[in-house]
Order: sequence, then C-alpha cells, then structure tokens
Amino acid sequence: MLVFNKIKELEELISLEKQKGRTIGFVPTMGALHLGHISLIETSKKQTDITICSIFVNPNQFNNSSDLLHYPRTPENDIKLLDEAGCTILYMPEIKDVYPEKDVRVFNFGFLDSILEGAHRPGHFNGVGQVVSILLDGIKPNKAFFGSKDYQQVLVVKSLVKQLGLLTEIIACPILRESDGLAMSSRNVRLNEQERLEAAAIPEMMKLGNQILKLYGIAEAKKYILSVVATIPNMKLEYYEVCDAETLGILTEFSPKQKAVSLIAVFVGNIRLIDNWMVN
Ligand code: PAJ
Repeated sequence: MLVFNKIKELEELISLEKQKGRTIGFVPTMGALHLGHISLIETSKKQTDITICSIFVNPNQFNNSSDLLHYPRTPENDIKLLDEAGCTILYMPEIKDVYPEKDVRVFNFGFLDSILEGAHRPGHFNGVGQVVSILLDGIKPNKAFFGSKDYQQVLVVKSLVKQLGLLTEIIACPILRESDGLAMSSRNVRLNEQERLEAAAIPEMMKLGNQILKLYGIAEAKKYILSVVATIPNMKLEYYEVCDAETLGILTEFSPKQKAVSLIAVFVGNIRLIDNWMVN
C-alpha cells in the first residue's frame, strides 16, 4: 500500500492512473479503523480498480472539543488493517494539507441540517461538507463509499455532491455489527465493561421498537424505547425518531406503503452512540 501525506503528490499519481483508464474508489475515514470501515474498502475493491482510503480526524466537524480531544487514534493498527485488506493507497494528511486556509464556507443542507444529528450537533454537517468537498475535489473518485451507520451523513453527502455538481457517485454500504448486534464504531473502544454490556441493549430495543411501531404505531414505539432506556443506569436518550427512509422527514404514523427507518442517538456514560434500523 502506498502512503501519501500531500494531496499534490497523490493527485499526480491519480491522474496517471486515470490516463491508463483505471477507475478510482474512495473511502474517507477518521481512522481508529474497525471491520465496518474495512467492509467499505472491500466494496470499493469489488467496484473499482484502485481503492484510496483517507484518514483525517476533521476538527471542523466536532462541535464538542472534548470529543475531538478523546477521539481514538491508532495509526499503526489502521495501516496494518488497510494493508491486509488490499487497499491500494492511503492518504493521511496533516491539517494544513487539507485546510491551507481556514475554511469559512457555509453549506445549506436545508431540512437535513435541522433534524436528528443536525439538531443535536450544530455545525457538524457543515464540517463534514467542508472536508468531504475538499477530499472529493482532490481525489476526484469515480465512486465514494459511505456507511449507512451514519444514515443522515449519506444524505448530506449526496446533497453536497449535487449542489457542487461533482461527478462522484455516492454508494451507501450496509452497517457492520458486533456479534451482539451493536453497530461497530470507533467510539465503542471508549466504553468500559459495564457500559459495553449496556450498549448491547441498543440493537435489541431498536429491533423490538420496529415490531411495536408496525403493530401499534410510532407513539407506542417511542414509549417503549423511553421505558427501556429508563431501566439502564448509564444510558441517556438524545433522540429516537421514525423517518421516511429517502427524505428523513419525521413520521408520526407508520404506513407499510412508505419505506421507513428508525434512528437513535444515546449516551452510554460519556460516549455518544448512534444507530438505525430499516423498518420495512
Ligand atoms: P468515520 O466515523 O471514521 O467513518 C468513516 C466511514 O465508515 C463512514 O462512511 C461511516 O459511515 C463508515 N462506518 C462507520 N462504522 C460503520 C459500520 N459499523 N458499518 C459500516 N460502515 C461504517 O464518517 C466519518 O468518519 C467522517 O464523518 C468522514 C465521512 C470521514 C468525514 O470526516
């Protein structure tokens, strides 16, 4: 695997490869890689000739400075995992390579930025938009792969690409889970033993919540989720919503004709975890 720290050098190699007719797949990450990230690399390898992964902990998307400070960084293990997965190129820039100047652009993601993650993490999606637009502009991949774990992020990135007229196709990939169903996340390593056990309740209640909302409606599912969270000592609910799977419009009534997804954000101790499950 080739490792680059400077976008200029990477751009030269990419243009040579493009001249040879090779297609480029891109997987942006913030490192602390796990098998969820690696599944994106595997999908990219199947669909394109050259897979480029980036590792960059983007300060502009953290609305909480303590979260940025404590974000796990495991570069040696990341390089090993990517190498074993057969990733072609790793781009691991310093801050000044990505942001030679302060990025003051403000994107308009409309409704998407005002609900769920947008409502609870002000400025987060603007920071995601800034870094993703810079990375896509430098790498100009044919396809970029994003995990459905961050369901709303996928919609934001699709909106970004449309607004900027970029030619990259955005591919949403399935969520990889631990054996007890907890969605893999770089933040999971920050849970202590007790919190990790408690976090396993998230996929369980989401699955049952989906059954309840189909049978008794969304209000009953919300009551159920609140009642479960109340019994778990270190858990605090930030939101639980059932939304239209395409627009993320918040639903109050479920209709089997409409594709829906339930989404949750909880704190387990100090760690904020998100998850989502398709309803139908
Ligand atoms: P990060 O949290 O490192 O995630 C990188 C990519 O991996 C995202 O597309 C995310 O949805 C995906 N991913 C994370 N956990 C996953 C899982 N369990 N199964 C499948 N995919 C999973 O998301 C970001 O970084 C950043 O916001 C980024 C897009 C890199 C911009 O800074």
